[in-house]
Amino acid sequence: MRVHVADHPLVTHKLTVLRDRTTPSPTFRALAEELVTLLAYEATREVRVEPVEIETPVAKTTGLAISDPKPLIVPILRAGLGMLEGMVRLIPSAEVGFLGMVRNEDTLEPAIYAERLPKDLSNRQCFVLDPMLATGGSLLAAIEYLFDRGAVGVTAVCLLAAPEGLAAVEAATKDRDVTIVLGALDEKLNEVGYIVPGLGDAGDRLYGTLPAE
Ligand code: PRP
Ligand code: URA
Repeated sequence: MRVHVADHPLVTHKLTVLRDRTTPSPTFRALAEELVTLLAYEATREVRVEPVEIETPVAKTTGLAISDPKPLIVPILRAGLGMLEGMVRLIPSAEVGFLGMVRNEDTLEPAIYAERLPKDLSNRQCFVLDPMLATGGSLLAAIEYLFDRGAVGVTAVCLLAAPEGLAAVEAATKDRDVTIVLGALDEKLNEVGYIVPGLGDAGDRLYGTLPAE
């Protein structure tokens, strides 16, 4: 498994605003999109391309175009939806499939509650979007699901990860072509499975459903 942690002051600056508990949902949503566009640049480094002949106003030349089958972007509902626009802005020709997953907050086990993806993912490069990699259970279930459907490689873009979750995904995907691109690798998981320092519940902060204090 390849792991890339962004090391860029703009990413850290935007993450700092995102982490701040006083940042309101509209700002949180805008920043999540901006961050994914910055991370997508690294995440798409190995996207498959093929040579194409074109003619500039001056001369014939050979360029590169994204190959078929087109990459498949898979936001994990609900929080991953907040990263979709930022990603498709960078690869507008990609296709999009949806996986709905929820983590049981008592057992921390993930469950898939919705899916809308092409049935056959043979030969596809998939890009999973989920802001939080905590225990790693949700991401691992998504990765297994995509490989079971025939995907040849999975790149996950996450804003934050806990070292425990990253290690769990690595241990379970040893023989697979998996890349993880992170905005930051945080300190640890707390006793209830939240990333520390983290940013809280990403879905609630994106969509304004935080419980009253
Ligand atoms: C959050 C997050 C990840 C998952 C991470 O989703 O968006 O999908 O938890 O936790 P894990 O690594 O321990 O599995 P959540 O289940 O809260 O659903 P939501 O996106 O609908 O809020
Ligand atoms: N899900 C979140 O949204 N945040 C965490 O810190 C852990 C799981």
